[in-house]
Amino acid sequence: MDRTARLVVLVSGSGTNLQALLDACADPTYGARVVAVGADREGIEGLARAERACVPTFSRSVSDFETREGWDSAMATLVERFEPDLVVSAGFMKLLSTDFLGRFLTLNTHPALCPAFPGMHGPRDALEHGVKVTGATLFVVDAGVDTGPIVAQVPVEVAEDDDVASLHERIKTAERAMLVDAVGRIAREGITVEGRRVRIGGRDR
Ligand code: GRF
Repeated sequence: MDRTARLVVLVSGSGTNLQALLDACADPTYGARVVAVGADREGIEGLARAERACVPTFSRSVSDFETREGWDSAMATLVERFEPDLVVSAGFMKLLSTDFLGRFLTLNTHPALCPAFPGMHGPRDALEHGVKVTGATLFVVDAGVDTGPIVAQVPVEVAEDDDVASLHERIKTAERAMLVDAVGRIAREGITVEGRRVRIGGRDR
């Protein structure tokens, strides 16, 4: 990406990953800026964070559409308006269609070390399995659930007295740093995806 990369960030909740990106983008040398924040629901802190940062927002709920495809297509139309170089799904709790993913290079963060513990409960499942190390993964979204080509990963040790909340909070701290670092490098140096292999720095897009 030769100029400041345009990011559209999708959120469903507290938006601390979004906030980390907004904070990073305040530095002109970072190489990216958040041009819009989209959500699948109203009244969430993620949207409030965007509004406080004077970033345009949009939100469409699946329940307002007759079909899931209708919702997905409306989201794609809204995203398109902001001409993103990259879409970042940061705590966005909806799967996107292959049509959407074909139109926009979309990254997602997951609070586990993929391919372990995909799905909605990464920290809980890691804790229940008794692993000693878990972490977070940034990946290129594909048609599966947390299955796409891996961009970056960060390990986090599981403490003996961890519960799901304490473990997830520690993962999120590492996850935010990983996200900010990887998105900045992608913005400045580009990204190449060949099959399952992802390289930052080989300028492709
Ligand atoms: C993150 O851990 C993300 O990986 C998971 O939900 C959390 C979202 O946190 N899917 P936030 O909304 O960015 O604070």
